[in-house]
Amino acid sequence: MVIASPKGVFDILPGSDEPWKDSSIWQHVERSCREVARLYGFLEARTPAFERTELFTRGVGETTDIVSKEMYTFEDKGGRSISLRPEGTAPLIRALLTSGQQLSGLQKLFYIGPMWRYERQQAGRYRQHHQFGVEAIGDPSPERDAELMDLLMSLFQRLGLTGLKLMINSIGDLEDRVAYKKALINYLTPKRSQLSEDSQRRLELNPLRILDSKDAADQEILQGCPTIFEYLSEGSRAHFVEVQHVLERLAVPFSVEPRLVRGLDYYTRTVFEITAPQLGAQNSLGGGGRYDQLIQQLGGPASPALGFGVGLERVIQTMCAQEVELPEPPRPKLLLLPIGGGARHAAFGLLKRLRQGGVATEIELIEGKLKAALRKAASSQIPFVAVIGDEELAKGSCELKEMATHKSLTVRLEDLGNHV
Ligand code: HAM
Repeated sequence: MVIASPKGVFDILPGSDEPWKDSSIWQHVERSCREVARLYGFLEARTPAFERTELFTRGVGETTDIVSKEMYTFEDKGGRSISLRPEGTAPLIRALLTSGQQLSGLQKLFYIGPMWRYERQQAGRYRQHHQFGVEAIGDPSPERDAELMDLLMSLFQRLGLTGLKLMINSIGDLEDRVAYKKALINYLTPKRSQLSEDSQRRLELNPLRILDSKDAADQEILQGCPTIFEYLSEGSRAHFVEVQHVLERLAVPFSVEPRLVRGLDYYTRTVFEITAPQLGAQNSLGGGGRYDQLIQQLGGPASPALGFGVGLERVIQTMCAQEVELPEPPRPKLLLLPIGGGARHAAFGLLKRLRQGGVATEIELIEGKLKAALRKAASSQIPFVAVIGDEELAKGSCELKEMATHKSLTVRLEDLGNHV
């Protein structure tokens, strides 16, 4: 019996029956992420798949869904509580703080990798998903907020995506939020019994998260609730206004959504999210914001920072739904087809020389009819086939077939690389 994969995960394979799981699209998207990161001055960071659980309870927040319900937490053989990383920001900050490097000046880093969340399985939600994340540490300027959103939108443009919506909001500093939370609780408490069960629970623990509720009755109640704008300090307000000005100057379209909040506790001031109409309920392609107090919360110096994470599954699914043009998957340029024992022997040396010369080459070793082998080459879209029989070999040549034109040419073996 074949052992099935665990629930909520998937494989990325060449020629996968579901196009979004095809490895060539993933390579293309990851290449684009790297290229955009390079253009915007971000260098790559890689952190371990697991961390001490404490990093996430302290960094992401104990009452968040991610930490309270979704972490893959286990005790290792030494009795330590370990969690698979559910997100990349806290680990990256931990890496900087433990690296011994001075956190001075601006640091711009990016990462691509899997994250794990024990979520209820549904379209667009996986127990292992992949994120492209960028983090800019050490700069409080509102221009940086706009720069990051511009990076994100230019990545999506490069990938051919259209019709996406960038929503932004300011959730203020911690102090602004204390007053706002109070106002929200005052507004919601008399309506408590009409709220969904989840929102009732959040009313004490994390009232801001109620703003994000998908429940229709909750949304109805929220229509008249106070907005955060009335509670922003002068500094937070000026910051948010400037972010919008810079976005306008950069011609990045956005909308201000006063009820936009995010599912992680570390945000301050600017938060943003990008949605795609094709994705249904799980329509967030990516999101992020400032986290000016996280570094200190994790034991480091006071240092402003911001970043975002993009879910690559959802990006690729949206690309497939929008039928964007994709580059050709990588495939060999040339197939060697030796016929007979001597040819087979000689072809292997030739194969190595061609590959060393930079020609992606494959060899057919399963002996069969010539016609069948040619058909196979055509179906795998290899543009050239070199037929090497013992007779040709004796003359130091082979018959080169161009599959698209059906033209054949006798070519000397040492010249083969120049012909394809
Ligand atoms: P997040 O919003 O939790 O933010 O995740 C970022 C993106 O990852 C989401 O918008 C979504 O596309 C994708 N994603 C999250 N969970 C799943 C899942 N179960 N299945 C598929 N895709 C998923 C963060 O993780 C923050 N660390 C982002 C950040 C970086 N903020 C500042 N810096």
